[in-house]
Amino acid sequence: MTFPPQVKIVEVGPRDGLQNEKALVPLHVKVSLIEGLTEAGLRTIESGSFVSPKWVPQMADTAAVLSGVRRVTGVEYPVLVPNLKGLEAALAAGAKEIAVFTSASESFSQSNTNCTIDESLRRCREVVKAASVSGLPARGYVSCALVCPYEGEITPEAVARVASELAQMGCYEISLGDTIGAGTPVKVQAMLRAVTKHLLPEQTAVHFHDTWGQALANILASLDYGIATVDSSVAGLGGCPYAPGATGNVATEDVVYMLSGMGIETGVDLPKLAAVGREINKQLGRPLTSKVAVAMQREPETK
Ligand code: HMG
Ligand code: MG
Repeated sequence: MTFPPQVKIVEVGPRDGLQNEKALVPLHVKVSLIEGLTEAGLRTIESGSFVSPKWVPQMADTAAVLSGVRRVTGVEYPVLVPNLKGLEAALAAGAKEIAVFTSASESFSQSNTNCTIDESLRRCREVVKAASVSGLPARGYVSCALVCPYEGEITPEAVARVASELAQMGCYEISLGDTIGAGTPVKVQAMLRAVTKHLLPEQTAVHFHDTWGQALANILASLDYGIATVDSSVAGLGGCPYAPGATGNVATEDVVYMLSGMGIETGVDLPKLAAVGREINKQLGRPLTSKVAVAMQREPETK
């Protein structure tokens, strides 16, 4: 196997991690979370979304989050945007980078964005175009890149088609989402084989939820495929409101520990990150789920 010497971690905890929390998380908790992650060395922190507050009430205060965070030079704080209305709000809030999202599954597209894949790609295209006029780079997400909660397995070709369209409309990076965390490594590689016929590995990121405990294995399989951008969520927070039963993203602590053990640089300070994870768990009243975070509590000298 061959691995990249360094990996960019896209921390999605403040958005993907919190969006599914039933009780509204206070603004100051969100702001401290993002500032703590910055302090721990994360350089890309997805900080919220400008989606309909009727659909995802937890993200309704994203503008206040962006204005509350002490932004640090060299750190990106992208936000998710579903349509032009969301882009307008993101621009007004001073966002400097956005992410658009679609799906490789027709049923998931309907449940997540209330439209077909093609309609969602059309919306993404107009958002990416308008964002670029305002000088904002856009990332693109493909949900259900392996399995859909409604349709089951999704073909690699369906994922490749949508990923390729996002790249063609100008997304600088495409993040392939295993939304319900049901994928396994050989299937991940089959999907990446199809996608990298259209995209360079440098344009490709992986986004694994860890519902079935496969995320680290899937990341390893992706690294071997030349992928060097990995999404994760501190403390393994999260889940998608439109993917019943799906748990959080792979924990950033687990990813950093694995990569560091492989000699791969991430720039993240694991003890500081684990402290941020413990604090947000305490705030949310959740038990620690990251295996690495739990082990660090038992053996605090382990780095
Ligand atoms: P819709 O209801 O079809 O849209 O929602 P609409 O255009 O008919 O608007 C309905 C109402 O929403 C209107 O208000 C609009 O103004 C308002 P009303 O007239 O009824 O008072 N509205 C908005 N308000 C604020 N900001 C906006 C906005 N847009 C419309 N941007 C829409 C369509 C796409 C907006 C809706 O379905 C939506 O917000 N969906 C977002 C769902 C979501 O956030 N899902 C989670 C994120 S994706 C994810 O987690 C997956 C990922 O992590 C990767 C992976 O794991 O796979 C990225
Ligand atoms: Mg996700």
